[in-house]
Amino acid sequence: MAELGFDVVGVESDPGKVAALREGRVPFYEPALPELLSRHVESGRLRFTDDLSEAAAADVHFVCVGTPQQPDSLGADLTYVDAAIESLAPLLTRPTVVVGKSTVPVGTAERLTARLAELAPAGAEALLAWNPEFLREGFAVEDTLRPDRLVLGTTHERAEATLREVYATALCAGTPLVVTDLATAELVKVSANAFLATKISFINAMAEICEKVGADVTDLADAIGHDKRIGRKFLNAGVGFGGGCLPKDIRAFQHRASELGVDQATAFLRDVDAINQRRRERVVELTRDLVAGDPVTATGPRVAFLGAAFKPDSDDVRDSPALWIAERLHRDGYDVVVHDPEATGPARAKLPEATYTEDLDEALTGADVVLHLTEWPVYRRIDPVRAAGLVRHPRIVDGRTVLDVEAWRSAGWDLRSLGRP
Ligand code: UDX
Repeated sequence: MAELGFDVVGVESDPGKVAALREGRVPFYEPALPELLSRHVESGRLRFTDDLSEAAAADVHFVCVGTPQQPDSLGADLTYVDAAIESLAPLLTRPTVVVGKSTVPVGTAERLTARLAELAPAGAEALLAWNPEFLREGFAVEDTLRPDRLVLGTTHERAEATLREVYATALCAGTPLVVTDLATAELVKVSANAFLATKISFINAMAEICEKVGADVTDLADAIGHDKRIGRKFLNAGVGFGGGCLPKDIRAFQHRASELGVDQATAFLRDVDAINQRRRERVVELTRDLVAGDPVTATGPRVAFLGAAFKPDSDDVRDSPALWIAERLHRDGYDVVVHDPEATGPARAKLPEATYTEDLDEALTGADVVLHLTEWPVYRRIDPVRAAGLVRHPRIVDGRTVLDVEAWRSAGWDLRSLGRP
């Protein structure tokens, strides 16, 4: 928003994060964001506070808090969204638009509209709109400044006009815009993520079949992806999806559908989730098979993890397939060594029992099995001949189906790939 020329106040309740942001430091890994942040902290167009009243007079308020999965159900935890509205509303004394960005179960915005009307001194002058975002981690800056589309959920002319002004740069550049009601706007986000998850699980289901018959899922994806109606994107088979969005969104969607009495409509998402889970278990199974004939050692078989983040260009380990597998193998008595260019810190916080290193050679040294689970480009550049000299046994599972099978095998590696012969 500061980059687009607006005067921005970021409100954050964690004092550690406020302090970092004020110094222009991003408290997580995201390409291109540090430069943007420090530029606008310096220009004075972007400042941070933990005091909500400093932001109360704004013309537009974006609510961008998380909606994680509840610990004891499939549903989304709306505590943070509710708290944001409850604490902001009493401070709203002049006309404003409160814009929800968080991914929420359909019907939340309607409930919050009523709450806002009840609590805001500005009354009907404080409008609520829903404006989901679709940014991908690793491409957050690009996706925000040049989105594929904009969705505005509001039936109020003033709210629509305000948001059109906010997004004038993108709209002038021809970004498609869909203006719709609150419920549809909420549903757009979850259905988009449900579709993407389904696409990934579809190709992973094909991978399971390919494994049975010795077929190649990457060729299959290329071939069906050439059909413009299908498209090649999000057809990369492998260890499946993770992260803070896709897994919890498909679960929250099922939960909400069930509350609404239309659980049949999202029943297929149970399979989408189950296929995704089976891919993780498949990697565990392949690892067990590979070490099956080895002599038993006191420390257990040493497994080198190439990657901990749920995807490259991110340090996010939420619902990471790599970390799930690391945890399972550690529990089963394996000696787990994890390498990741950015995510060893967050991974260590979740699984402190594993060994972590930022030195790739160190990770590979003495390994009985190597698991390639996050497709950071650095792993594709590994020289298999040199790597074979570091490990105890040259065995690798390619959980992202991107390694050059011929190159690795001709260097003496026993390479197993998900969905490829
Ligand atoms: C996703 C949506 O893409 C984004 O629009 C939404 O706003 C938030 O959720 P993100 O979680 O950042 O974004 O990552 P994404 O690129 O969608 O990848 C999700 C997971 O799917 C990753 O674990 C990735 O490795 C996996 N994936 C992706 C595949 O396994 N195969 C693919 O073909 C694509």
